[in-house]
Amino acid sequence: MVGAMIKLTVDAELCTGHGRCYTVAPKLLAYDAEGFVTIRGQTIDVPVELEPAARDAEMACPESAISIVEVSDP
Ligand code: F3S
Repeated sequence: MVGAMIKLTVDAELCTGHGRCYTVAPKLLAYDAEGFVTIRGQTIDVPVELEPAARDAEMACPESAISIVEVSDP
């Protein structure tokens, strides 16, 4: 689908710092000094080449803190 893209969001309440997300997707996600993913509570655009990494991160989080949002251009 032309123009399709995804966003990744991390629920700040659910993330407890397991760290599996940035372990499986190091090109997309990073960690802070306390071991939480740096985008906790935020939503980011996912570059198309990193979509598989984003989906891996979503599946890896044991707290289901990560959600993928499919976005389609009008
Ligand atoms: Fe948090 Fe889940 Fe990653 S708990 S640090 S979003 S694996």
